[in-house]
Amino acid sequence: MLHHARSRQALAGWFAVSLLAVGVWALTSCGTVARTVSVPLTIPGASYVGNQACAECHRNLTQVFGASPHGRYHREEGLRMAGQTGCESCHGPGSLHAQAGGGRERLILNPGKDAGACLECHVETHAELRLPHRHPVLEGKLSCVECHDPHGQDLFKAHGGLAMARVNEGCASCHREQARPFVFEHEALREGCTVCHQAHGSVHPALLVQRDVNLCLKCHAQPQAGVGLVNVGKMGFHTDFVRLGTCWTAGCHTAVHGSNLHPKMLY
Ligand code: HEC
Ligand code: HEC
Ligand code: HEC
Ligand code: HEC
Ligand code: HEC
Ligand code: HEC
Ligand code: HEC
Repeated sequence: MLHHARSRQALAGWFAVSLLAVGVWALTSCGTVARTVSVPLTIPGASYVGNQACAECHRNLTQVFGASPHGRYHREEGLRMAGQTGCESCHGPGSLHAQAGGGRERLILNPGKDAGACLECHVETHAELRLPHRHPVLEGKLSCVECHDPHGQDLFKAHGGLAMARVNEGCASCHREQARPFVFEHEALREGCTVCHQAHGSVHPALLVQRDVNLCLKCHAQPQAGVGLVNVGKMGFHTDFVRLGTCWTAGCHTAVHGSNLHPKMLY
């Protein structure tokens, strides 16, 4: 119900939003994120009451929130932009919810179920999630919070993720096959899945950050033997191999995440 009311409003306000967004961008573009704050969220009849009003019943969250990136943003910008920072920037105006004594699905939005609130500010993420290959967030098959903890200090920690290396933790909970331990591990994975994969979406079917040998050569490049010659690893000469295709196709390092059988990860 509330979501629908909001999407209608979002649509109706589209042109106004685009114009406003340009203005806000011009004022705040020095930040780390495109701060194209659009229309504040609405819940019919409700008004913005500020974080203090939530603390009464949600102290556990208001306490951790200060250390999160959105909490920092709230401290810097909060007073100037009522409803566009703080708890209500994601949950919508909270007056009616608070008056009613709170409750699940009670006069409050939950962007864990509908990412609309997040996407109003993160327009770049929205664009990435519409690329030909992507995590099906807009399709409702997974949500931002499966990879981002919205309230805590570490936004890049999956909500309730497994106790693995932090960088791969979020991905591993769904992609066990690639993240499991291997006899011959590929040390690249220690830097995290995102050295090779786009998190949100990509034009490449495997969401790769680069589609050719450069994906591998950015770590495996060596002083070259001469113009057009490629040397990789202890074996050296690779010039003819890279002409055959990518390093992971062409019958070569097909077990790119690690292998239990072959130290060079051929299979
Ligand atoms: C009078 C107490 C009270 C106040 C004030 C209050 N809440 Fe709640 N809220 C609750 C209760 C109780 C629940 C249900 C929790 C549960 O079932 O675990 C809840 C649930 C929620 C949920 C989950 C909704 C869902 O559908 O899953 C959100 C989000 C939420 N509150 C946000 C807020 C925000 C933001 C504020 C401040 C503007 C706020 N609350 C103020 C008591 C309150
Ligand atoms: C960046 C957006 C964002 C901000 C800011 C934010 N929240 Fe949330 N909140 C979420 C999302 C997303 C979920 C759903 C989490 C999930 O499903 O695991 C959520 C869930 C909740 C819940 C339900 C928790 C539960 O057990 O299901 C409550 C209560 C809540 N938020 C309160 C708050 C309060 C209070 C603040 C301010 C201190 C706040 N939120 C700030 C995005 C946000
Ligand atoms: C009202 C606008 C707004 C909303 C709504 C919003 N964000 Fe943000 N978000 C920001 C801003 C501004 C920053 C940059 C904070 C800073 O570092 O100063 C940010 C930072 C982030 C970052 C970290 C970026 C980085 O490089 O450190 C992530 C991840 C993120 N948001 C995810 C979310 C998710 C998930 C939601 C919805 C649950 C959400 N945001 C809702 C404005 C918003
Ligand atoms: C499949 C996991 C996953 C999902 C789902 C996901 N993200 Fe992310 N997101 C990431 C990872 C991982 C990064 C860090 C990317 C990097 O460091 O290269 C990231 C980065 C970000 C950033 C920082 C800017 C950037 O692109 O590096 C923002 C903002 C963000 N996400 C917002 C969101 C929002 C909003 C949603 C939901 C609409 C969402 N994300 C859904 C994994 C995810
Ligand atoms: C909550 C579960 C979940 C999490 C967490 C998750 N993914 Fe996914 N991932 C999916 C789903 C669902 C698809 C789409 C599969 C499909 O369309 O068949 C997908 C697709 C992919 C694909 C495209 C290849 C394929 O099999 O279609 C890659 C690559 C990928 N994810 C990597 C990652 C990385 C890297 C992370 C961590 C940043 C991550 N995933 C986190 C669920 C998840
Ligand atoms: C060194 C680069 C690299 C790293 C790091 C990496 N991947 Fe991949 N990944 C690839 C390549 C290359 C492919 C495409 C393989 C193909 O098309 O045969 C791929 C394919 C995938 C696929 C599609 C299914 C498959 O196995 O072909 C998933 C899912 C995936 N990776 C998840 C992950 C996860 C999760 C992590 C972190 C634990 C990760 N990857 C780390 C390079 C990498
Ligand atoms: C983030 C950096 C990084 C990326 C990207 C990367 N690797 Fe690696 N790779 C390493 C490290 C570190 C090692 C272990 C040290 C070594 O042997 O060079 C390694 C080892 C290997 C080995 C075993 C070498 C041996 O002699 O035992 C192979 C094969 C390999 N990588 C193939 C690839 C392929 C194929 C790609 C591209 C899909 C790739 N790597 C991308 C960092 C990376």
